Amino acid sequence: MSARQAPRDLLVVGSANADLVVGVERRPAAGETVLGSDLAVHPGGKGANQAVAAARLGADTALLARVGDDAHGRLLTGSLRAAGVDVSGMLTGGAPTGVALITVDPSGDNSIVVSPGANARLTPADVEAAGGLFARAGVVSVQLEIPPATVAAVARALRPGARLVLNPSPPAPLDAAVLAACDPLVVNEHEARVVIGEGAGEEPEEWAAALLALGPRSVVVTLGAGGALAADGERTVRVASPRVEAVDTTGAGDAFTAALAWRLGLGDDLVAAVRFAVRVGAAAVTRRGAQDSYPTRGELAAFAEEVRA
Ligand code: RIB
Repeated sequence: MSARQAPRDLLVVGSANADLVVGVERRPAAGETVLGSDLAVHPGGKGANQAVAAARLGADTALLARVGDDAHGRLLTGSLRAAGVDVSGMLTGGAPTGVALITVDPSGDNSIVVSPGANARLTPADVEAAGGLFARAGVVSVQLEIPPATVAAVARALRPGARLVLNPSPPAPLDAAVLAACDPLVVNEHEARVVIGEGAGEEPEEWAAALLALGPRSVVVTLGAGGALAADGERTVRVASPRVEAVDTTGAGDAFTAALAWRLGLGDDLVAAVRFAVRVGAAAVTRRGAQDSYPTRGELAAFAEEVRA
């Protein structure tokens, strides 16, 4: 295998957004206007977030995504480069960079509206043209802020033996071939309920069983401050999260999924990878923003010491 084809830890295929964030005392009801904080603009998007999170932890990571030829696109590319992400698969043009309009309340919870922009122009042909990235990737992680046909193309492009990690966010119907390739499917409660549909039940263990019945090889359910649950058909294990003071949960799920995907690629079993990922997710909620909140390997070690104390 030549140097150019050396395997890498993680390929992320997904969105890159400029996050336009306003702090609010409470989110407005229909027809209501509320005043918020000064506007902050952060690099975000579920795909770019995952790539930055993994790279900060030390993973050799590449991102396949599309941004516009504009200032937001340059903000994203700069953040990815600074984290050490390989951006050779980044495509430019076709529409403005995706934008996420985000409100964050005092508890750290957020609401997000995404205008996909260039993310919606990441096509199956773009995936097919990125064969070199897929040839090197033992783990590929994808989300649903890009078109469903592009996600299906990602599942088809996996090299033999490669692992697909899918976070169906925002949730949408998934085709059987994509579901069957997931190892794991990573969902929060809302995503689990949408993917399962009627009769999802009330317990995460029930959601995991219902999701496994749809075809994925394994399932991880994230439970916010409650940690996460891992299920692979043989065992179902809950993993607790360290107790932290959350200031902003934006992008914490992306950091969790990136950490999980990376550790699975390094050879951790599912439960060990989830144990690592809940620490990364917990660290991410203690700082503001998405990518700006992600710990480096050193910061994570210091955080782990702190939460043990
Ligand atoms: O998961 C958080 C992300 O969702 C934000 O960065 C925003 O861009 C939206 O994609």
